[in-house]
Amino acid sequence: MTHQDPQLAHEMSPDDWDEMNFPRPETQGFDAVVEAAISRRGFMGGTLAFGSGAAVMGTSMLSGEAAMAGQADRFAFDQLPIQTDGTVHVPEGYTWDVLVRWGDPLFSDAPAFDAEMGVPTEGSDRVFGENTDGMELFNVGGHELLVVNSEYVNAKYNLAHTEDGMPTSADDVLRLQNFQGVSVMEVTEGDNGWEVVIDSPFNRRIHHNTPMTIDGPAAGHDLLKTEADPTGTASLGTFNNCGSGRTPWGTYLTCEENFNGYFGTTAELALGDTHTMGFKRYGVKTDIDTGRYNYHGFDARFDISKNPNEPHRAGYIVEIDPAKPDSTPVKHTALGRFKHENAAYALAPDGRVVVYMGDDERGEFMYKWLSTDKYVPGGDTSTLLSKGQLYVAKFNDDMSGEWMALTPAATGMDEAEIAIFSRMAASAVGATTMDRPEWIAVNPTAVEGYCCLTNNRNRGVKPNAGGDETPANGPNPREVNNFGQIVRWRPSGDNHASNTFEWDLYVMAGNPNTQEGLYKGSSNINAGNMFNSPDGMQFDTTGIMWIQTDGNDKNEGDFAGMGNNQMLAGDPVTGEIRRFLTGPKGSEVTGLTWSTDRRTMFVGIQHPGRPFPDGEGSLPRSAIVAVKRVDNALVG
Ligand code: FEO
Ligand code: CA
Ligand code: CA
Ligand code: CA
Repeated sequence: MTHQDPQLAHEMSPDDWDEMNFPRPETQGFDAVVEAAISRRGFMGGTLAFGSGAAVMGTSMLSGEAAMAGQADRFAFDQLPIQTDGTVHVPEGYTWDVLVRWGDPLFSDAPAFDAEMGVPTEGSDRVFGENTDGMELFNVGGHELLVVNSEYVNAKYNLAHTEDGMPTSADDVLRLQNFQGVSVMEVTEGDNGWEVVIDSPFNRRIHHNTPMTIDGPAAGHDLLKTEADPTGTASLGTFNNCGSGRTPWGTYLTCEENFNGYFGTTAELALGDTHTMGFKRYGVKTDIDTGRYNYHGFDARFDISKNPNEPHRAGYIVEIDPAKPDSTPVKHTALGRFKHENAAYALAPDGRVVVYMGDDERGEFMYKWLSTDKYVPGGDTSTLLSKGQLYVAKFNDDMSGEWMALTPAATGMDEAEIAIFSRMAASAVGATTMDRPEWIAVNPTAVEGYCCLTNNRNRGVKPNAGGDETPANGPNPREVNNFGQIVRWRPSGDNHASNTFEWDLYVMAGNPNTQEGLYKGSSNINAGNMFNSPDGMQFDTTGIMWIQTDGNDKNEGDFAGMGNNQMLAGDPVTGEIRRFLTGPKGSEVTGLTWSTDRRTMFVGIQHPGRPFPDGEGSLPRSAIVAVKRVDNALVG
């Protein structure tokens, strides 16, 4: 099979599509092997030191054992066993119900969903988008507004009239463009449970053609100018909206991840070095073929032979004000351009705004934003995501770490170049290559952050796309890491604005039944709560961490005993982890938020592999489910 096989292209996740189209060169240099061995020894030493220093740090992986030895736990449910079927399961005492699924109307003039054909192009921007991902709920004047990302499309479901899901016309492309982006919708709970308020004045679809404003250091730069926008400050659309974030001033942050897959070329290219290097590092295809969606075959904006700067206008954090349906979303270039997973905010004691962010690609980096100005409730917030400093993480094997400022002096790049080519800036300062940083979450009850490092089969095997070697290192201690782990850091002085931190691993996923050594997982993993590939993550108000997975759900081999993708609860203090929810076979569980009264949790089910939730005879439909306790008690 080759990457030209469109059928295959549409069955793959954006991550897998990327990896197939941009395989990293193998390295077998002796130096790299030695370096890996040294790093590994350093980690083991660090682990031992950490175990004996548990009293100092307060918690550790070892404390998971204490929890399992019989201490009372903070979970209000019994562990759900693994599941392998085509539906959602929750523990006894809880219920779930579908809130909304791909193609459900947001407006009364939306076309009806056809069980076999889906939604036609006309009106495809009036329905809930496909492949639900990150989401946040805002209460605006008593209205519950759910803001949700639609990450990508399963084109063969959306374009059921085509043989292989590849667009055959501009109309097909427009339909795909409309099903992605962001949905803002009012939701309400009545006698029939939660439902969308159709025609609410807050309802809105933001998609691949919605006007955006670009701000920050890259705004107006030559690399962002196009024929349609000679100012370089007004682009169309937000792309591959993966994880989410929110600000204390009531706005939603949507995070552009695998934006590269929407661009291609219809002609041989004659690009300068800057474009060539950038496309290579970010995975924009430069050979002539249909690519992932063949937008470029029918929409010249995505044809880099005609618009080589258009990809520079994607890959950012985008801010949306759900309270103002007519507002223009803002792309904040100051927070860097990479494959943004999510955006987790924290406030420094002095009121400056911190945003932690991961770049989800094998061997890429973790970042932090620190605003110059302070957040004052009710005050001016216009500079808080445009004026400040971007940092990248360096983890040391002695369990210390530092945030390295991406400044012109440190990188040899100017401010605009750092914003547009943040990956190169981070490589220039020697940032730590990570095992695909997915969601980051900040604990509301302790000054600490967590990042899901989902997996990395290239760890110790291949460098990243920038040529940075990726030997096993402190927070990424396993070569060919198919299980993933969650790293935790505590900023010095209990201050998220600090340049230094201490770190440990909250959990290493693994299989204690079939694996040896580090691949068995850390001590808080057992035969009952096994999982792989942690991805989504949110804290509830009580300080329980909810972990969602996007991994191998074959339930065999290395992954035997793990079942379908799932959501687990983690106690940051004891280390205990317990399975709470399982998704249908083939799905990823991603996106989590709560109703304002905290009696409902909304959970996203992306790309179900079976005809969920409507059953046989219908297309599989990604959906958001509302999970409640039977006694209507608080769920977070
Ligand atoms: Fe869209 Fe990295 O998950
Ligand atoms: Ca996904
Ligand atoms: Ca994800
Ligand atoms: Ca993932």
